[in-house]
Amino acid sequence: MLINVFVPKFHTEEVLEEIRQCLDKGWTGVGFKTVEFEEKWKEYVGIKNAHFLNSNTAGLHLAVRVLKKKFGWKNGDEIITTPLTFVSTNHAILYENLKPVFADVDQYLCLDPKSVESKITKKTKAVMFVGIGGNTGKYLEIVKLCKKHGLKLILDAAHMAGTKINGKHVGSEADVAVFSFQAIKNLPTSDSGMICFADDGLDKKAWKLSWMGISKDTYKRFNNNKGGYKWKYDVEDVGFKYHGNAVAAAIALVQLKYLEEDNSRRREIAALYDKLLEGVKGVEIVRTAPDCVSSRHLYQICVNNRDEIMQYFYDNDIYPGVHYTDNTEYKMYSYAKGSCPNAHKKSEQLITLPIHLRLKDSECKKVVEVLLEGLKKFSK
Ligand SMILES: Cc1ncc(COP(=O)(O)O)c(C=O)c1O
Repeated sequence: MLINVFVPKFHTEEVLEEIRQCLDKGWTGVGFKTVEFEEKWKEYVGIKNAHFLNSNTAGLHLAVRVLKKKFGWKNGDEIITTPLTFVSTNHAILYENLKPVFADVDQYLCLDPKSVESKITKKTKAVMFVGIGGNTGKYLEIVKLCKKHGLKLILDAAHMAGTKINGKHVGSEADVAVFSFQAIKNLPTSDSGMICFADDGLDKKAWKLSWMGISKDTYKRFNNNKGGYKWKYDVEDVGFKYHGNAVAAAIALVQLKYLEEDNSRRREIAALYDKLLEGVKGVEIVRTAPDCVSSRHLYQICVNNRDEIMQYFYDNDIYPGVHYTDNTEYKMYSYAKGSCPNAHKKSEQLITLPIHLRLKDSECKKVVEVLLEGLKKFSK
């Protein structure tokens, strides 16, 4: 049996029942279940605004776009960001002709506040923080830093569904938090995401931009407005087709019910890895920040000879992941190559061990066994 890094678990019968409601009603687009899920999500994360989108990538783009427009940022203005992320984070900055300025990461693989502060210039407008693997790192220091320097804070919370900081769900401290419900995330759907603005006005702008810049959505037109003019709307902006749909929201509604339970199991797996790897020479475990209860989207370690060890895993039918390649190694971001030495070093050592809800304890033990063999074989 092969062991994969991620395998999503769906509550199939319950999900099918929710989807059936969409089909029976004849409503699979925006509205109906999307509205219901937004309400449930707001309650769960304790943020007063939420809009369901077709991805986190769309949400990050909207976040940057809405802030740029509201605060009059100019092309070429800067957002400080991390090189250790999926490229969506940084592409979202480029979509709006702003410049990603890379700061280095700390021991948690999140932005290091000291490095961030050293990168602030007159052109800096915002910080984009990624809670990698569900970890908060020194996020609260970044929140303070942004306040001190008058910078906006965008939280790429793609991995953070269920992450708590000092006992409270993460997200409300940022100007905008964007979650991912992509196929292998902690709350998996087919593909979707959520944008949560702190400010009501910006939230309204994001909603409008997610549906082509149109002033009323189809569901509102369908449900309200009993009189005439159901068909009538204005187009107030050049928006995008970024909203989510009722079928994805139907999946999300069920998965949300199990998120706490699912994340507890993920933390159990992480604790088992911690125990099995305790004191193992040649393995550095990426620890969770002390004030964080992580969603445990990832369990990451650093090793030397990473590529050989990965190959050894593959030879044994185990398929771990790597999160991520230092983005400044990519052609698009090579202008910043060498600017973040710690992120670069870590990105050559990182392995994400398999962590998902179908993984048995015996399989975790097998993963560690193979890792130890690999370390022995390839240790320099
Ligand atoms: C850190 C990070 N940001 C953004 C994204 C993009 O999310 P989505 O696939 O929902 O657009 C991902 C997805 O893998 C991610 O890992």
